[in-house]
Amino acid sequence: MTDIDKSNLSWDEWDELQNPPPAQTDFDRVVETALSRRGFLGGVLALGSAAAAMGTLGTAANLMSSTSAQAQEAAGSRFAFKPIPVSTDKTIHVPEGYSWKPLAKWGQPLFPGVPDLDHVNGVSLEHSDKVFGENTDGMEMFVIGGHQVIAVNHEYVNTKVNLPKNADGTPTSADDVKILQNMQGVTVMEVAEGENGWEIVLDSPFNRRIHHNTPMKLSGPAAGSDLVKTAADPNGTDCLGTFNNCGAGRTPWGTYLTCEENFNGYFGTPNAEFQMPEDYKRYGIAAETRYAYEKFDERFDVAKNPNEPRRAGYIVEIDPSNASSVPVKRTALGRIKHENAAVVVARDGRVVVYMGDDERGEFLYKYVSNGIYVPGADTSKLLDEGTLFVAKFAEDGSGEWVALTPETTGMKMDEICVFTRQAASKVGATTMDRPEWVAVNPVAIEAYCCLTNNSRRGEIKDGKMRTNAGGEEMTVNAVNPREKNGYGQIVRWYPEVEDHANAKFKWDLFAMAGNPAVHKDSAYAGSANINEGNMFNSPDGMMFDSTGLVWIQTDGDDSNEGDFLGQGNNQMLAGDPVSGRIERFLTGPNGAEVTGLTWSADKRTMFVGIQHPKAPFPDGEDKLPRSTVVAVKRDDNAMIG
Ligand code: FEO
Ligand code: CA
Ligand code: CA
Repeated sequence: MTDIDKSNLSWDEWDELQNPPPAQTDFDRVVETALSRRGFLGGVLALGSAAAAMGTLGTAANLMSSTSAQAQEAAGSRFAFKPIPVSTDKTIHVPEGYSWKPLAKWGQPLFPGVPDLDHVNGVSLEHSDKVFGENTDGMEMFVIGGHQVIAVNHEYVNTKVNLPKNADGTPTSADDVKILQNMQGVTVMEVAEGENGWEIVLDSPFNRRIHHNTPMKLSGPAAGSDLVKTAADPNGTDCLGTFNNCGAGRTPWGTYLTCEENFNGYFGTPNAEFQMPEDYKRYGIAAETRYAYEKFDERFDVAKNPNEPRRAGYIVEIDPSNASSVPVKRTALGRIKHENAAVVVARDGRVVVYMGDDERGEFLYKYVSNGIYVPGADTSKLLDEGTLFVAKFAEDGSGEWVALTPETTGMKMDEICVFTRQAASKVGATTMDRPEWVAVNPVAIEAYCCLTNNSRRGEIKDGKMRTNAGGEEMTVNAVNPREKNGYGQIVRWYPEVEDHANAKFKWDLFAMAGNPAVHKDSAYAGSANINEGNMFNSPDGMMFDSTGLVWIQTDGDDSNEGDFLGQGNNQMLAGDPVSGRIERFLTGPNGAEVTGLTWSADKRTMFVGIQHPKAPFPDGEDKLPRSTVVAVKRDDNAMIG
């Protein structure tokens, strides 16, 4: 690879560089996009992907039945805030009558006697597993015996801020690697509201850090399989660490689900002789790694431990009520680049988990348990014994969940759970524009998924249609209707007979993001519920509140130029599923992604995650930028969700 500074790239950007699809490397474009987005090149590069409208777009537009301007007018406003404009500065903005305050910042102590972040030297090895980790992402609030406990992900690290004394943040020792490993994973922390607002309860027995070396169990069909056995774990049942924890979820029985996304980038080898197994390619496992773990920790050297990367890429269940509980990797939910886990109980009590696989042209999944959920009964097998399905979207607005079984795929059950992408390809799943979070409406039988963007959708390169990593062509289709889709869309589906366990559904597009100020054509101006006052790009995080409003968070191009002119920094908006209306609630600091959302028990506080700020947020100039969970309240202390 070209010798450039990659330490400022987000994980998605790094992965794109590391693992280009077969047709093209496209290195310079990726770097230019990433750097111009963060403003490092002085903001002269516009992407300019003004492609023509596609034939299928009319079909998609027809499917956006309930998002018309008329419906919006008729329904009136359900929003208890005055929408805010975009921002391009270094801080957070919320509507008039609301305020925000940091709750937990990267490097902040979780235990008594641990010092706060040293802005010159960073966090010491000794304290690195006793502080709030970096790059906050999905989170959930649990109320346990009257205590409010938040479980929250730390997706990846920016080496420059974690190893500030190393040139370019490059790890040069086993201790450096250990610091990086400790700064990722999950935090479990008790929080309480006092005179100074919300704070971490330092002496709480619930407080815990889970990181890249935390012991955990494998369960489900792949546990004990030859595919996951290693020299250190000949039984294939006991592994270490959870990786690239992105979105999250919760079960009805009070456990946290953390989702392993771009796990591939941690595993590689300096051994040029090693023949990479064929299955690595589909997941982007290659010789080069992001943090050079393999140089100092041979568990990550795939030439020595070729099955180790097959023990990552799962959804991991954590009991937040017991700080010494052993997390469990639920292999029945498949091995993909898991975004989040949206759990809902079907009509008959079976547990349904919706899951996106966030990579260009990968798929949308659903798991349905065999057993039913009975409050207070044994739940230990509900995420081990069940069926995994993948979505097929038809052009006419119908869809089908296709089961991944030995009969439909020709693969054994352990293979389906480890090589899930390959299994889904065998049944003709619909290639999607990077499925990010799924959210289930608590007041209607419907679910939503953010399809964040796909710059290569429908693109012909060197005479060939672009493909996903499995070689499947990413031709435009009704649910992914735009060529070179830089803006993203949100798909919504309605299970037949109002049952999430049903294999059939109807779907439409809740929104197609776009830029009506720059584009006048319907393809890139966006759907009817997108206007110059609420526009955004790259929807990613998404959650419903208890009233049925859907909150949408973005992780997109914040250059505020070219196709993204007027869209400002990443943001959070609220959408009304009934009227289709969408309004902007919060804007983040420059360079940051807004990701992760949960509420206090009384719903009077909303907790929002700010990941990888470029600006020296929130401590001010001359300080390191700190990924932070903030608490947002109404000044009159009314409920906000
Ligand atoms: Fe970690 Fe797909 O976002
Ligand atoms: Ca995400
Ligand atoms: Ca994203």
